[in-house]
Amino acid sequence: MLEVRHLTIRFAPGGPAAVDDVSFSIGAGETLAVVGESGSGKSVTALAMTRLLPEPPARYERGEILLEGRDLLTLPESGLRAVRGGQIAYVFQDPATTLNPVLTIRAQMDEVLALHRPDVPANRRARDAEIVSELTEVGITEPEKRLRAYPHELSGGMAQRVVIAMALACRPKLLVADTVQRQIMDLFRELKGKFGMGILLITHNFGIIGGLADRVAVMFRGRLVEEGKTGDVLGAPQHPYTRALIDCIPKLGAHRRRLATIDHASLH
Ligand SMILES: Nc1ncnc2c1ncn2[C@@H]1O[C@H](COP(=O)(O)OP(=O)(O)O)[C@@H](O)[C@H]1O
Ligand SMILES: [Mg+2]
Repeated sequence: MLEVRHLTIRFAPGGPAAVDDVSFSIGAGETLAVVGESGSGKSVTALAMTRLLPEPPARYERGEILLEGRDLLTLPESGLRAVRGGQIAYVFQDPATTLNPVLTIRAQMDEVLALHRPDVPANRRARDAEIVSELTEVGITEPEKRLRAYPHELSGGMAQRVVIAMALACRPKLLVADTVQRQIMDLFRELKGKFGMGILLITHNFGIIGGLADRVAVMFRGRLVEEGKTGDVLGAPQHPYTRALIDCIPKLGAHRRRLATIDHASLH
């Protein structure tokens, strides 16, 4: 469904590649987690999937991003706009980056349906019924009441669910989630399999992907250094950096160790 080949992105000519010869694929219904510490190139990879990085400074130096065989890197802007939100939807960590504070939940969901769901008739009754059903799918209680709410009237957890409802309402082929929050992962776990889409999950925390990611790719300084089935990688990590990341998973009863304690010098 999605195939990324040799993706290389640089922000400054002659500078280091933020994403360096990265290749991976995601099948329909499959979840791939990209795990790496801060600055390793995860968010740049996530944004690149629909060419969201500002160019310049970003430059796609090499590679292909094939969505069902179509290379998004050679698609004109008009084509990319249809892909964004429609075929590839994002869930960002902070609901405030997605939700508009001056619009009700209904108005924002309405916009999504108008743009991406020609199957839903454009009348109030049909739209509201669809919105209520989408909100119900992500576990929002009293959805009829939430229709009239503004984002600030929702708890953080509810707002997060609305963000996910907005993404899922597009019926994307691929959902890209750049997040570190355990609650979102729990919600994804609950929803997994419901829509049959592929998921690109991005996090620095190996501890939250269990039971969710089918495969995991480990990113280090712009490169994928290891990839495999989640159980295999967790059980027998091959790269020393992967091992260091796994050692950072907090053990029950132990204090959370910080990623910053990874000794880079020891990895070379
Ligand atoms: N707009 C930008 N301009 C210049 N450099 C950037 C920009 N965005 C990201 N980078 C660089 O790309 C690298 C990868 O960043 P990022 O993907 O955000 O890391 P991560 O999400 O893994 O924490 C970093 O070295 C970062 O400084
Ligand atoms: Mg990031």
